[in-house]
Amino acid sequence: MDRMADSAHIVEEIVKLKEERNAILLAHNYQPAEIQDIADLTGDSLELSRAAATMQGGVIVFCGVDFMAETAAILSPQKTVLLPAEDACCPMAQMITADELRLAKERHPDAAVVCYVNTTADVKAESDICCTSSNAVKVVNSVGQDTIIFVPDRNLGQYAQRFTKKTILPWEGFCIVHDRITPAQVKEARAIHPDAVVLVHPECRPDVIDLADYVASTSGIIRHVCTSEKKEFIIGTEVGILHRIAKQCPDKTCYSLLSDAICRNMKKTSLEKVRNSLATLQPRITVPEEVAGRARRAIERMLSLP
Ligand code: 13P
Ligand code: SF4
Repeated sequence: MDRMADSAHIVEEIVKLKEERNAILLAHNYQPAEIQDIADLTGDSLELSRAAATMQGGVIVFCGVDFMAETAAILSPQKTVLLPAEDACCPMAQMITADELRLAKERHPDAAVVCYVNTTADVKAESDICCTSSNAVKVVNSVGQDTIIFVPDRNLGQYAQRFTKKTILPWEGFCIVHDRITPAQVKEARAIHPDAVVLVHPECRPDVIDLADYVASTSGIIRHVCTSEKKEFIIGTEVGILHRIAKQCPDKTCYSLLSDAICRNMKKTSLEKVRNSLATLQPRITVPEEVAGRARRAIERMLSLP
């Protein structure tokens, strides 16, 4: 069988198994094109968290990285949550441990803790409220305290600082994909495409954000491109997003700010792994209730914000 026929065959198997298992397939906007194409929903972290909490079905196949599947498992402990690529992790989420956060809380006893969703369940359990890239400013402004320990993304923390009078104490974590984007690359892309609008993710460094026309989550970037009257866009985030933009608004032209802005962990999902996970109901992600209960409080506080 040639490769295309083989893929078509695997997709058929996935469709059949999904029905048998009463499963839904969620995919992040950075997932490989062939995974986005078979997903029930493709979205950003907030959209996928909301879907995990509310969608029908006994099985969630989470095509993304570990903290996303963990969040789904925390919100829906009665469902079977599968992460087809078992070793797909987010290096940023590994940049803070629960012990380190406990020490920071001891040093700043009056501060609230806001954790980016890109954290382990243990870190969420030590936090007051969770946030994603699409609601970080709203979350920061929703807490009662004037000082906020913001973990782990220093760039997102500094971005939120622009829109609040509170004092944000950012942790020193960062995304290894977005932190590589430089102001020089923005200037060079603008020089080549002078009519293009520059959109970047808030995980980018502050000096890159200073040069952007618009800053948003992955789905926020997609919405902006598709609803804008402009035709050309320079995109400062992971390249997987370009597939969804091309499908949703093929009349727009997008250039990647950094063509090798690739999250290797997001690319670990494959059709074969999705098929195998549905067939075996493995690898399954579970979170012990002692941790999940406390982490759930932080996530649900975020989800309940108007
Ligand atoms: P979004 O919530 O904007 O999709 O971002 C998730 C992420 O990991 C970005 O690197
Ligand atoms: Fe983590 Fe960055 Fe990959 Fe997002 S793009 S999952 S923050 S490593």
